[in-house]
Amino acid sequence: MGAEIISGIQMRKEILAELEQDVAAMKAEYGQVPGLVTILVGENPASVSYVTLKVQTALSLGFHEVQDNQPADISEQGLLALIEKYNNDPAIHGILVQLPLPKHINEEAVINAISPDKDVDGFHPVNLGKMVIGGDNVRYLPCTPAGIQEMIVRSGTETEGAEVVVVGRSNIVGKPIAVMMGQKGRGANSTVTMVHTRTKDLDAHCRRADILIVAAGVPGLVKPEWIKPGATVIDVGVNRVGVSEETGKAILCGDVDFDQAREIAGKITPVPGGVGPMTIAMLMKNTVKSARWHREQEGLTRTGK
Ligand code: GUN
Repeated sequence: MGAEIISGIQMRKEILAELEQDVAAMKAEYGQVPGLVTILVGENPASVSYVTLKVQTALSLGFHEVQDNQPADISEQGLLALIEKYNNDPAIHGILVQLPLPKHINEEAVINAISPDKDVDGFHPVNLGKMVIGGDNVRYLPCTPAGIQEMIVRSGTETEGAEVVVVGRSNIVGKPIAVMMGQKGRGANSTVTMVHTRTKDLDAHCRRADILIVAAGVPGLVKPEWIKPGATVIDVGVNRVGVSEETGKAILCGDVDFDQAREIAGKITPVPGGVGPMTIAMLMKNTVKSARWHREQEGLTRTGK
């Protein structure tokens, strides 16, 4: 029997419906909606398409959305000044600078310039630090790992005591999801192994996994025989392997051979239509959370607490 397909498109729909209600409630309660600015530098085609989707989703939820497109030759100082402007704008609760940035701009300086209170990407070292500490300290979880964890929970996969193997150690996915799955709490309490390009016996580690999370960016890296029968497989890879003659659009595939893996896994995410849509849903969730937090802070200031 084939694996159950974990559809990111369906789960995104459910999450956005929940958020739509939150936004309507905020508007009715205090006449304000979450504000998100998306800053796109240059015209990298993949970035343009990601940002377009983020903007459309924010607008569909009724957010105040500012799309701020800047030329590829904007100076680092210019970009930092723009971020400072949005840090001080009370109508903006979330600031997203689409990565990667042109080579002449230091990405770390840009991420550090975003106020941790408005860092809805969850990339700022303050928010990453809070994520590592865990518990009540957690502010904004990085969106792709948060989407992965949400998919694991909503698919009904047991995480308590489960062997989780994470393939990849990027700052955006591998490292944070490994930490998150090992924390105490809902959708976590797992035993985590993080493997990477220098790991010996990569296949042996993968074979142990009750939950296999693959974020290596290498098409077909994980072979079907590396998958434990019945495991939940989360494929984070988005690899452009060609262009469709029919549609002119990029042909995408993951890091796992989906057709073969689905015969062995218990549950599996497809590419496209798996983790990708969840990342945007989590960005929206962080922005709603930020809008609420900012509102609470205003209330506390007014009452002098
Ligand atoms: N580029 C690719 N993924 C992301 C993301 O999640 N956030 C930002 N800001 N840039 C990206």
